[in-house]
Amino acid sequence: MTRTPLMAGNWKMNLDHLEANHLVQGLAMHLRDNNHDYDKCEVLVIPPFTDIRTVQTIVDSEELNIKYGAQDVSIHDNGAYTGEISTAMLTKLGCTYVVMGHSERREYHSESDQLVGAKARKVLDAGMTPILCCGEALEVRKAGTHVEFVLSQIRAALENWSAEDVAKIVIAYEPIWAIGTGETATAADAQEVCGAIRQALAEDFGAQTAESTRVLYGGSANPGNVKELMAQPDIDGALIGGASLKAESFAAMCGFYA
Ligand code: PGA
Repeated sequence: MTRTPLMAGNWKMNLDHLEANHLVQGLAMHLRDNNHDYDKCEVLVIPPFTDIRTVQTIVDSEELNIKYGAQDVSIHDNGAYTGEISTAMLTKLGCTYVVMGHSERREYHSESDQLVGAKARKVLDAGMTPILCCGEALEVRKAGTHVEFVLSQIRAALENWSAEDVAKIVIAYEPIWAIGTGETATAADAQEVCGAIRQALAEDFGAQTAESTRVLYGGSANPGNVKELMAQPDIDGALIGGASLKAESFAAMCGFYA
């Protein structure tokens, strides 16, 4: 298997740039203490926009292997789009990943699958890696239609994509009922959907693409459940909110393989 596991810390709207400095320094220290092997797990932090320059400065000056990215991006190149941030601004700061379609953005900013797909396209074209989020609400889960719901989100976002491009993206499955609630999907629940995603990628884009595309799980992932999640065949990492805000717990999760 060629998929390198990825632990991605989604800070959401937490930590100012001074706190960001502190967290990245702490994370680097814990990873060093744990002799972290970056070939066994890629480490990514996804701070608010206002922290990115600070994170870049620490990563560059200390030559850290930690990667960083953004939580959202505009589909426009530049111009009269008040409040928006372009892919060019992010690449200039050394960002290598951008999240799109997080359920919080779908809910509070009415982001559609089509917009999410356009953002992923924009990010890929700019040379960064899209982390395309999907996931069902509790009602959908209760109705038992979660697999088809999630696959329809992904298929709508990736309509007309080439297999080669799909192989480069990361998909994050985050059941909404498990985000920030302390309620994690069981490893079997997470595997069911992540496995179905890979199966759908194989059907739509071929087996080779399905084998290359990384699929993450997100939703109350923490140091206590990460090993079991990562033992599932189709889970290649985690998108981590709350537990990524503490250097020690995030570093511990990055060391799931030990
Ligand atoms: P959580 O958030 O780990 O705090 O549940 C995950 C996410 O929304 O990315």
